[in-house]
Amino acid sequence: MSRRMLVSGNWKMNLNHLEAIQLVQKLSYELVDHDYEAVEVSVHPPFTDIRSVQTVVEADRMEFVVGAQNCHWKDSGAYTGEVSPPMLAKLNVRYVIVGHSERRQIFGETDETVNLKARAVIKHAMTPIVCVGETLEQREAGEAEATVEAQLRGSLRGISVEDLSALVVAYEPIWAIGTGRTATPDDAQAMCAHVRAVVDSIRPGAGADVRIQYGGSVKPVNAAELLSRPDIDGALVGGASLEADKFARIVSAG
Ligand code: PGA
Repeated sequence: MSRRMLVSGNWKMNLNHLEAIQLVQKLSYELVDHDYEAVEVSVHPPFTDIRSVQTVVEADRMEFVVGAQNCHWKDSGAYTGEVSPPMLAKLNVRYVIVGHSERRQIFGETDETVNLKARAVIKHAMTPIVCVGETLEQREAGEAEATVEAQLRGSLRGISVEDLSALVVAYEPIWAIGTGRTATPDDAQAMCAHVRAVVDSIRPGAGADVRIQYGGSVKPVNAAELLSRPDIDGALVGGASLEADKFARIVSAG
């Protein structure tokens, strides 16, 4: 088993490009070489910041990789306000978050559009981080596993075993995002194991290699325990990724 941890900072709609440069510079001081041996680190700024972050990361040979938070699935065309996968690939973006629950809930994304986006990201030689997760109502009704399974089957349709093995799934229970409520490490582990089993049933053989992040109020205080669980291969971090010292402590916990 050789899955490398991936800790990703999802900045959401925060920081202009000047603030973004400051944050990656602070982060590069906080992280030491040793941190990157065990953990791959990606930062996902808003679109308007990506070029600036890419330039600093490459000029100063920082070891993070640059990510994006979303994209359209077409290469180009009359889609006002959208950004395409080849535009991101040209900025050396490596990971693209697709189907974040905020996109699904606020912007009406469905498993079908998430699937189109994931496949478009793969087509342009980047890696999707496909987000899934249940609401509190679904968890309380005992439907969490079935909800996540349906999201995975819909979002990962038509992806080859090789591409599925290389992909990242982020399990983010919606009730834990930005709320300060974290799933217990046991609950998070159980659902990540379920995600792995579902991925393996979609494409036999892919389950062992797919990387599964946990997300939802990950903080320095809970990161080590979450990341020590066998099926949790990293974290997708929102709020705490906006503070260099906190994010660095989460990375060090991996
Ligand atoms: P949070 O966000 O860490 O602020 O809960 C996680 C996410 O939405 O990816």
